[in-house]
Amino acid sequence: MNEQTLILIKPDGVSRGLIGEIISRFEKKGFKIKALKMIWMSREIAEKFYEMHKGKPFYDSLIEFITSKPVVAMIIEGDNAVSVARKMIGPTDGREAPPGTIRGDYALSKQANVVHASDSPENAYREISILFKQEEIYDWS
Ligand code: CMP
Repeated sequence: MNEQTLILIKPDGVSRGLIGEIISRFEKKGFKIKALKMIWMSREIAEKFYEMHKGKPFYDSLIEFITSKPVVAMIIEGDNAVSVARKMIGPTDGREAPPGTIRGDYALSKQANVVHASDSPENAYREISILFKQEEIYDWS
């Protein structure tokens, strides 16, 4: 099924010079990039984006981290985009993520894990609506 999902290159990925590498992996896999921009998340946007984690022990530090530097947000589209992108990024903890996944190759931390991908089609829709206006999403083939 053709789907869209939201990918975020986190502050550690941006500051370590991994933007090109991460975009390239999704492009080479065959996904179409429908929208792409660098943003510096405000606290308000970050709290909305991660609202499901409010109250968890890592929440305050996560908000601090995600607003600490710019991030790169993109919408990718393709067959089963949500689950395929989740497999490509690997499990949350970079120390446990298998080699070959983005986190497995580039992260050694649970928080600074380089990249985020939506975990369900519903969350993809929610996250895309928080970060992108309709006119920033291009319909091209
Ligand atoms: P992400 O896929 O963006 O979803 C929520 C984020 O919270 C997650 O990646 C990590 O960056 C962070 N996170 C999740 N669990 C923990 C944890 N136990 N300690 C620190 N950060 C966490």
